[in-house]
Amino acid sequence: MLEVELCKMKLKNPLILASGILGSYASSLNTIAENAGAVVTKSVGLEEKEGYRNPVVINLAHGILNAVGLASPGVEKFSEELKRFSKASKLIVSLFASSPKEFSKLVGYFELADAFELNLSCPHVKDVGLTIGNDAELVKEIVKAVKRETSKPVFPKLSAVSDYIEVAKAAEEGGADGIVAINTLKGMAIDIATKKPILSNISGGLSGEAIKPVAMKVVWDLYEELKIPIIASGGVTTWKDVIEFILGGARAVQIGSAIFYSYRIFYSLKESLIAYLRKEKTSIEDLVGLAHEK
Ligand SMILES: Cc1cc2nc3c(=O)[nH]c(=O)nc-3n(C[C@H](O)[C@H](O)[C@H](O)COP(=O)(O)O)c2cc1C
Repeated sequence: MLEVELCKMKLKNPLILASGILGSYASSLNTIAENAGAVVTKSVGLEEKEGYRNPVVINLAHGILNAVGLASPGVEKFSEELKRFSKASKLIVSLFASSPKEFSKLVGYFELADAFELNLSCPHVKDVGLTIGNDAELVKEIVKAVKRETSKPVFPKLSAVSDYIEVAKAAEEGGADGIVAINTLKGMAIDIATKKPILSNISGGLSGEAIKPVAMKVVWDLYEELKIPIIASGGVTTWKDVIEFILGGARAVQIGSAIFYSYRIFYSLKESLIAYLRKEKTSIEDLVGLAHEK
């Protein structure tokens, strides 16, 4: 009922932990993996990266603003850390880099990954993420380079502020197995007491409830344009959001910011989905893209 097949990976449910929310420790991934179909690691680069000074996360009324700055222990330490992953769900390793060569180099460190996510959409770090994810030709080259290194599924993660249809089609041509949409949207906030921007990096990425309709539109458009599956990311807080994304064309749905409010969210989403599917006498697989039917 809850199981979905995603590029030949059998997920026990369509719920996936979004990248970066729980930092770079296997123990946090293990807690979520018990009730998730898959977990995505924090994005990792070749070298250790410190990230930005505090404050890096602000809690807003309908979402979260963050500029962590892709803090990362570096690929060697991180691949060691992941050996402690419990394997209670599929493991998707998220990579960030600035060139096809760097991306393909990273892949070799993660024999234990079930799939790879390519961060082509982080909005607040120079030379990586969105800076390169706007360039359709470069995205195609990156996907091709990674696919030469691995037969595992590769999911580029795109931004809503790029020309996402063009970029996604280029990624598909390059051999991408699925697309993750979307990453955070550029945003900022000013403290009226200090009269200065709150985030040390001045601007950051907006996530959570506020971005759900934006993510929904991107998922909808990509479902119409692509043959490969779409994984939704952006603003899920309830089981109804999960069903909405599935009806809009997502084959699996990532949950990020909602973890800040409840560590138990994967369990409660899963239980609510079971109740809904029983009542409707249907399955997740049967609901994928149903809203598109004329
Ligand atoms: C604190 C924080 C850190 C994040 N780090 C990453 C990251 O390392 N790589 C990445 O691709 N996305 C990262 N994201 C984006 C999330 O994976 C997700 O795509 C985004 O937050 C939208 O989903 P949500 O509304 O469910 O949070 C981060 C988001 C937050 C809030």
